Amino acid sequence: MRPPGSAEYLLCDEDQASRFGAALGRSLRAGDTVLLEGPVGAGKSHVARAAIRAIAGAATEVPSPSFTLVQTYPGPACDVWHADLYRLTSPEEVLELGLVDAMEEAIVLVEWPDRLGPCLPPHAIRLRLQPEGDARRALVCGARDELLKALCEAVRSPQRARRKGRSSCRGSVGARQRGRIWRATPRPAAMSGWQGAAALPC
Ligand SMILES: Nc1ncnc2c1ncn2[C@@H]1O[C@H](COP(=O)(O)OP(=O)(O)OP(=O)(O)O)[C@@H](O)[C@H]1O
Ligand SMILES: [Mg+2]
Repeated sequence: MRPPGSAEYLLCDEDQASRFGAALGRSLRAGDTVLLEGPVGAGKSHVARAAIRAIAGAATEVPSPSFTLVQTYPGPACDVWHADLYRLTSPEEVLELGLVDAMEEAIVLVEWPDRLGPCLPPHAIRLRLQPEGDARRALVCGARDELLKALCEAVRSPQRARRKGRSSCRGSVGARQRGRIWRATPRPAAMSGWQGAAALPC
């Protein structure tokens, strides 16, 4: 069984990954750090870009921070920081970049978070993206239930959403309970006992 606050999703194409990223962005608050893990080309920047646009505005230019290491964007409630630490030369640079302070007050999205070393925040949301053929499997850990639920709603295709009890993710609970949980507008009471979700195939 997955730990509480974790869920798994299958992102079959770029559009689904964009919806997933946008839902992530809408669900984040000041002080949230998302650690985007996964191999080169896994889709970390793609998800981060959608999240940033959901917060800072759909027309926001989101260049890759691979060379600048960090890009910041003003949001309605707080700034958004997007870091790509692949080219970080020493963990001390994390402090120089101001990333640790930003984690206290901004929304921070970090690609290649293994480079954070001792600055790795213990209470961050972890999002691991894994290529699976042309699709990507997304495993989220350490997230609030409402965030996990928002992600699940976002990856449901319009066709699947119309079909009762079917979605692009499912609970680890029984099918009968699942039908109640993954409704379009779930009541808070229906969420109690929810443990996580597993992806359905595309
Ligand atoms: N769910 C998906 N299905 C198919 N293609 C995807 C999906 N998500 C992203 N892609 C595509 O994969 C490619 C690589 O994505 P991206 O640059 O975001 O990867 P990355 O993990 O940030 O790589 P890097 O480690 O080099 O920074 C892009 O062309 C992107 O559009
Ligand atoms: Mg990237």
